[in-house]
Amino acid sequence: MTDQHDAEKQQVHDFWNRASCGEDLYLAGSDRTAFVAQAEARYRLEPYIREFAQFDTAKGLRVLEIGVGLGADHQQFAEAGAELYGIDLTERAVAHTRSRLTLFGLSSNLSTGDAEHLDFTDNSFDRVYSWGVLHHSPDTPKAIAEVHRVLKLGGCARIMIYHKWSMVGLMLWLRYALLAGRPWLSLSSIYAAHLESPGTKAYSVAEARTLFTTFSEVRIKTVLTHGDLLESGAGQRHSGLALSLARRIWPRRLIRWLFPNAGLFMLIEARK
Ligand SMILES: C[S@@+](CC[C@H](N)C(=O)[O-])C[C@H]1O[C@@H](n2cnc3c(N)ncnc32)[C@H](O)[C@@H]1O
Repeated sequence: MTDQHDAEKQQVHDFWNRASCGEDLYLAGSDRTAFVAQAEARYRLEPYIREFAQFDTAKGLRVLEIGVGLGADHQQFAEAGAELYGIDLTERAVAHTRSRLTLFGLSSNLSTGDAEHLDFTDNSFDRVYSWGVLHHSPDTPKAIAEVHRVLKLGGCARIMIYHKWSMVGLMLWLRYALLAGRPWLSLSSIYAAHLESPGTKAYSVAEARTLFTTFSEVRIKTVLTHGDLLESGAGQRHSGLALSLARRIWPRRLIRWLFPNAGLFMLIEARK
């Protein structure tokens, strides 16, 4: 690995180790009540997660989750009775998820780890699940190659990565390119600098197909999110008057009607 790649990975680590995803907005403590409330908020704002993740079908399966974050989805897999493994680049996320599972009397094999170098043998999982993670890692193609390597033949990856042509992307571009007097800035550079951890990427559907080309069957769909529709707190980096104003006038019904595919989340189901 190059020094630059290591430095980028360190920045990603440091960003998410300051606060796990959703921690500032939705986790109001460290007891059972706080974790229950965080999970309720998550599945209310992102109802499509349950259908996509198919937690209830995981009983007895060897499941690896990459990038556990606060651990709400990990808890669902544990409750479903999966033989469960989870990693995250940050100590903070692993600690949250570990204490969450302990509070609910559940267990998993949790450790810090890097999606680009999975510490698991080839062909060892029935399912690999990862929600909103692999686009943060500097070498996303390497992380996807690792998902493919550790899956058993016939095993399924369910991965959410960011979709480039989204309303969130448009808003960020308006704010950080057009209104900043730099309309020549590319959407990719805006995502990398302003969405979440430094270097975050977003892909077109065609680019995602290329990323998953080694898989035998790939299904991709995009969803309009609470972020695209400005229906929630906008993440840990965004606030201010312009955003408050935009929230009041955002044409949600029109967007749903005219641009149903312009969502930030790209849901990828890929079979090895
Ligand atoms: C946006 S959060 C998503 C967390 C969780 N899946 C969720 O939906 O709330 C991104 C997570 O990915 C983790 N992450 C980033 N790069 C990673 C890598 N290379 N390997 C493992 N985890 C990584 C971060 O530490 C962070 O916890």
